[in-house]
Amino acid sequence: MKTQPTKLTEAAVTPEAVYLNRRQYLKASALGLGAAAFSGASQAADDGQLSDPAPLWMKTQLNESTASPFSTNEALTPYEYVTGYNNFYEFGTDKSDPEKYGQGFEPHPWSVMVSGAAEKTGTFDLEDVLKGLSVEERIYRLRCVEAWSMVIPWLGVPLSSILARYRPLSRAKYVVFETVYRPEQMPGQRAFFNAIDYPYVEVLRIDEAMHPLTLMAVGVYGRSLPNQNGAPLRLVVPWKYGFKSIKSIQKISFVEQRPKTTWERANPREYGFFANVNPKVSHPRWSQAEERRLPGSLFSANRIPTKMFNGYANEVASLYQGLDLSVYY
Ligand code: MTE
Repeated sequence: MKTQPTKLTEAAVTPEAVYLNRRQYLKASALGLGAAAFSGASQAADDGQLSDPAPLWMKTQLNESTASPFSTNEALTPYEYVTGYNNFYEFGTDKSDPEKYGQGFEPHPWSVMVSGAAEKTGTFDLEDVLKGLSVEERIYRLRCVEAWSMVIPWLGVPLSSILARYRPLSRAKYVVFETVYRPEQMPGQRAFFNAIDYPYVEVLRIDEAMHPLTLMAVGVYGRSLPNQNGAPLRLVVPWKYGFKSIKSIQKISFVEQRPKTTWERANPREYGFFANVNPKVSHPRWSQAEERRLPGSLFSANRIPTKMFNGYANEVASLYQGLDLSVYY
């Protein structure tokens, strides 16, 4: 009997399928096996059934990504959770709002304004910000302060490699990041009542910003960042609660004094400046000892113990030596 070639629809070929397929393909070719068995989804991707709206220069850079030794080998959180269960208040406060209301956002063309205590400042096209830097795939745990977590395959460059381009001066002690302010494309920014002030601001100490684990992500699951995940570039600081990982960054500034972050301004008792993942320091309204690793099921919330610094203590604990983490939370 003759079999019909199955026509894969866009819905069936998720970026996750393409991503997993590409990995299997790479593994198979490494083993010298035929790649024919894995051709379905990648064929669909080649046919343009799965379109990545990023400009060509970005897709080319993402395609050349290499695997990072910092990756965890824990099971990946499925694509539909990574891109459908989000916190991005600029698009609304429900977990499904960012995907729903983020579609009209235009992440290209994009430029980044760099200011403050650095030799080189100004406004730079995203292409120039990233030019010549090699993109790495880093599979990190993401732990939200709300006590859920995911395992996400990011594509990005070490933040240090971007910051070094602007040659920060020795008096630069903190790096301030600001999300774009575009109320016409971000319904949350024009809401009558807002839980937080916009634009969203986050701050890292310069040594935290320069730490090799700190990533500037430009993609996820083998493609450019969907709008709901912070297109076209967002921070990922894997040992800190997710709110430090600011999305859709348009301004970077090097400063001597620490300004207040958005969440510190909103509620300093609940959201500290450091926001290091710490199972021993409870949020005023809930314990941080455990987390729900998504996805859960109807029968199990998939609770696991939270690890100090989200499991990255070996890499980062020395940054906080001598600091009382229950005071500086
Ligand atoms: N960045 C901006 N600009 N606005 C936000 O509301 N939410 C933060 C962070 N970055 C947020 C943001 C929070 S609370 C978390 S947990 C992560 O984004 C979630 O990232 P994800 O949706 O890609 O998983």
